[in-house]
Amino acid sequence: MPVITTIDDLKQLHKRRAPKMFYDYAESGSWTEQTFRENTSDFAQIRLRQRVAVDMSDRTTKSQMIGQDVSMPVALAPVGLTGMQSADGEIKAARAAEKFGVPYTLSTMSICSIEDVAKHTTAPFWFQLYVMRDEEFIDNIIARAKKAGCSALVLTLDLQILGQRHKDLKNGLTAPPKFTIPTMIDLATKWRWGYEMMQTKRRSFGNIVGHAKNVGDTSSLSSWTAEQFEPKLDWGMIARLKEKWGGKLILKGILDVEDAKNAVAVGADAITVSNHGGRQLDGALSAIRMLPAIVAAVGDQIEVHFDSGIRSGQDVLKALALGAKGVMIGRAYIYGLGAMGEQGVTTALQIIQKELDTTMALCGRRDVTTLDRDVLLVPQDFE
Ligand code: FNR
Repeated sequence: MPVITTIDDLKQLHKRRAPKMFYDYAESGSWTEQTFRENTSDFAQIRLRQRVAVDMSDRTTKSQMIGQDVSMPVALAPVGLTGMQSADGEIKAARAAEKFGVPYTLSTMSICSIEDVAKHTTAPFWFQLYVMRDEEFIDNIIARAKKAGCSALVLTLDLQILGQRHKDLKNGLTAPPKFTIPTMIDLATKWRWGYEMMQTKRRSFGNIVGHAKNVGDTSSLSSWTAEQFEPKLDWGMIARLKEKWGGKLILKGILDVEDAKNAVAVGADAITVSNHGGRQLDGALSAIRMLPAIVAAVGDQIEVHFDSGIRSGQDVLKALALGAKGVMIGRAYIYGLGAMGEQGVTTALQIIQKELDTTMALCGRRDVTTLDRDVLLVPQDFE
């Protein structure tokens, strides 16, 4: 077992241990992957101000996200097919988040269902909704999320139609997932994954198959999405969904000031500035580049969260200092899950918290909630 000290170490181990088809699914962006690459490379352009001789005792990473206490302002983002990176992956990730004191978000496209996760955890989790054409399914899934005690609905707005990812097409990734012959051959060297997967019955979309009408046959992810997802989603529909849900609402996938203003107008509790981890509109600016303008426009009216490109505690600090109240991480914990199951997710969270805490101290700060632009040197063209 290699010594794990960074998120990248977890990524290398994930690559070795999980089937190529599922590792590639996590590690891809759409089309040329320009936005996917810039999500991380733009973070590196923001530099930190070293400060000295400042009392750095009694530091804290504790904060709040949508009024909930968190041990650090980092939530686990919704990730489809998490249960294919590691058997029962959603339960493992939710448990790791619960023990760490951070929110877990369950994707509509998860392998474990809302009920599976609720049964194996005690802390309320967030539920992410993709708006599907089948209205009865939407009503039912909102009722299921309420019944399970989910403490927020995360409504994802940037994927009503799928941004093409070449790797998934080449690997023959389907929805619901199906094991192809190349995957079976690949599995010969991924014995640990195969052994664990044999012990679980959860291998399809737990929230959808058996719950939604006309789910259809196995097809490519993009045709399946085109058949199932509601292309007419607009702000009127979002307002109606808000009424149906009645609880905390987070609108995810906001990358434009005008959309952020619409989110305020519709009465959402928070927005997530995000480009879906570079998986949707390739050519869009990195999410971290868009964050300052969105915070400037609506930061005093709505809680702003951020995701896309976070691979370290330093990245978390940069997003917070640019005005995000909290962040979500996607791949950073998925690498951990694919590498070492629940322990890997815990390791990812520990790495991020330690990096965040140390960086805060070296920037002369003791409390994560007081971070501001003074700790940063931001390139002028970020504005
Ligand atoms: C995602 N994301 C995502 N978002 C969502 O709202 N519902 C989903 O089902 C998924 N599925 C999904 C699968 C995979 C493999 C990835 C990598 C991402 C997007 C996710 O919630 C988040 O926005 C990004 O992961 C953030 O970028 P980073 O942290 O991965 O760079």
